[in-house]
Amino acid sequence: RSHLWTGARLHVEMSGSVDKVHAEVSEYYGTTLEKTEDLATNACCTGAAPPPHIRAALSKVHPDVIARYYGCGLCVPDELDGLSVLDLGCGSGRDVYLLSQLVGETGRVVGVDMTPTQIEVAREHAAWHATKFGFATPNTEFVDGKIEDLRACGLADASFDVIVSNCVINLAADKRAVLAEAHRVLRAGGELYFSDVYSSRRVPEALVADTVLYGECLSGALYWNDFLALAKSVGFDDPRLVEDAPITINNAALEAKVGNIKFFSATYRLFKLPQGMLEPDCEDYGQAVIYKGSIPRHPASWSLDGHHEMETGKVFTVCGNTHHMLHDTRFAPHFDFIGDKSVHFGIFEGCGKSLPFSTDEGGSKGGGSCC
Ligand SMILES: C[S@@+](CC[C@H](N)C(=O)[O-])C[C@H]1O[C@@H](n2cnc3c(N)ncnc32)[C@H](O)[C@@H]1O
Repeated sequence: RSHLWTGARLHVEMSGSVDKVHAEVSEYYGTTLEKTEDLATNACCTGAAPPPHIRAALSKVHPDVIARYYGCGLCVPDELDGLSVLDLGCGSGRDVYLLSQLVGETGRVVGVDMTPTQIEVAREHAAWHATKFGFATPNTEFVDGKIEDLRACGLADASFDVIVSNCVINLAADKRAVLAEAHRVLRAGGELYFSDVYSSRRVPEALVADTVLYGECLSGALYWNDFLALAKSVGFDDPRLVEDAPITINNAALEAKVGNIKFFSATYRLFKLPQGMLEPDCEDYGQAVIYKGSIPRHPASWSLDGHHEMETGKVFTVCGNTHHMLHDTRFAPHFDFIGDKSVHFGIFEGCGKSLPFSTDEGGSKGGGSCC
């Protein structure tokens, strides 16, 4: 399947040796930057204002942790109570401490990062946050390690329900290894829900080698279509785009360097379901779901992704893959399910692909003939 991710593999090769990239990125986040304001662009730290319950939870995170936040989105899915969550590239721990409150005392959140100064800030504040949240002991843990090798971090197969990551995978030297490791440590029915930076075209080698552009989360970004192929190649068969926004960069010199390449911050959700359950495309089996209005803070409707907002009590037709993402995950109790996969009705129209053949009599050539 290597042809599927040629672009992404080239990208890894272009970024030089894995160790060199790790050292440069660690230097950038450990020494060059000391606080959010030191960033040279707005590639990190974009995004809309968080919803009220997230704002309330963030107000309980220590200012020293917040000061070293370099994320590019909000990677907090619904239904986290009691879950085991992993944050890839947790930095100083802002999202870990946010998630710590959302999983509650019975859940746990593990953060992995390779930059010692960042992870030290995160660790130093563990007891402070546990007290602040009213927990008897911290439900957080920080591991100093590389997200390309979670085995070396001591993380077992199928040990997490949800993985988040905020503006990190673009910095990873081996993006395929990161996604493959995330897939390995997720439980079936779990998901990688993460915000990152993507480019409109493959980034040329000279820009990938630019340490500021790379450190600012721009030139390490995957071309979006390479990302989709890469995700599918490691087993995340149907990546779903939750939200996205263009990155303006806000630095004339760096904008001139990147020229016509456009960058976007985007949040994807990648479900891990048993092998073969999700199909390469959205297929129509005549299935539907009805949302019960029971996910906290979403009484009127709930969105699985940018294309599926389901109104409470209304029959909503879905493809086979969407049906599985709701039926075979933690979201199942919030839906009634209609239909099974016993009859196939063709491609699910409006989901990217459609019937490739002309339905006019005589076909696309205009003249009718038998074989
Ligand atoms: C842009 S910052 C984001 C940090 C954090 N997620 C946040 O929102 O503040 C990127 C972080 O990813 C970490 N990082 C980058 N590549 C990594 C890798 N291969 N393994 C572990 N950590 C990595 C860096 O050390 C840095 O702390």
